Amino acid sequence: MAYVVPFVDARKHYALYKQDIDGAIQNCLTNGDMIYRKHLKDFEEHLAAYVGTKYAVGLNSGYHALAFALMGAGITSGDEVVTVAHTFVATVSAIVHVGAKPVLIDVAEDYNMDLAKLKAAITPRTKAILPVHLNGRVCNMDQLMSIADEHGLLVIEDAAQALGARYGDKRGGSFGIAGCFSFYPFKTLGGFGDGGAITTNDEKLAIFARRIRFNGEDRETGEYHHHGYTALLDNVQAAVLDVKLTKHFDQWISHRRAMADRYQKGLKGLGDLRLPHFADAKNFDNYQNYVIRTKHRDSLRTFLKEAGIETLVHWSRPMWEHKGLELGTPDLPESLAISQEVISLPMSAELTPEQVDMVVAAIKSYFERA
Ligand SMILES: Cc1ncc(COP(=O)(O)O)c(C=O)c1O
Repeated sequence: MAYVVPFVDARKHYALYKQDIDGAIQNCLTNGDMIYRKHLKDFEEHLAAYVGTKYAVGLNSGYHALAFALMGAGITSGDEVVTVAHTFVATVSAIVHVGAKPVLIDVAEDYNMDLAKLKAAITPRTKAILPVHLNGRVCNMDQLMSIADEHGLLVIEDAAQALGARYGDKRGGSFGIAGCFSFYPFKTLGGFGDGGAITTNDEKLAIFARRIRFNGEDRETGEYHHHGYTALLDNVQAAVLDVKLTKHFDQWISHRRAMADRYQKGLKGLGDLRLPHFADAKNFDNYQNYVIRTKHRDSLRTFLKEAGIETLVHWSRPMWEHKGLELGTPDLPESLAISQEVISLPMSAELTPEQVDMVVAAIKSYFERA
């Protein structure tokens, strides 16, 4: 169905930035620059500078960023990694695939790791904490890093949703040994297919990631250092991401934040709605997703759909209920409640104030009618 307010509008995005996107693609194709060329190196340099790390390594997905960060940090079988269940499955799959055990803990009101639960999850086998900066809100990294330091644990950040978000004066992806990003098309910085990157200040980890993505080869010497993967960020993708990052990205984040403010002004005080404007003066959110919470989730979603408004749910079943994932049955009441109550409203750099007002008006009429 054609929505009056789509969740995101990929066609509009392309139409608006066509000249830059086509220019970047044509430049690569005209010169035959397909694999590991200047465009990738430029993008990596700009991304590292943006995030505030020494290195960035372009990869073919956020999943591989997580998996290679864990491998490069030396996480292996028998180790435990503490993370959350309320995340995209790739976070947990990356831990499983390196042979380690994911120890899932609950999230707090702001959908991020509940740091009050963190210490109790740490055992002698714990090697790392893997916080997820969900919906574009960086976890409380003062507290998290101090717990990690106290216990001698590594921190690998799942910053897949957090490019452009900050905690204090640092950006998500610059606190731990590695930050892991995704450039899936609907992320704040989206490519035209899958893509990802690791950011790090750790030279060894950067070298490891550069080799492992290229079947283990050191491109300068031709030496194969490991059995690796074919997992490089395509040069053409990098060229497109680079022009978006350097020319438009900051303005897109400002726009998302302005639209989030508009939602907040319109939706405040309606029914049992809980809005994502959580108090912590140190957070600067990118609003990758604008997530509201209500006990009437399913009927509100149906009402919005009938009004031509597309919404999504991240995620409607707790991860551990998918038995094939073999995650047991952890007791995580907040994650469970969230899966029954959240709705992600339309949010993108292309969303207009008029569209926000339409969504607000529809939600108001839902609660007035109720
Ligand atoms: C929180 C989180 N972690 C990891 C990923 C995995 O990224 P990708 O889809 O690029 O593999 C995503 C992407 O959807 C994500 O949202």
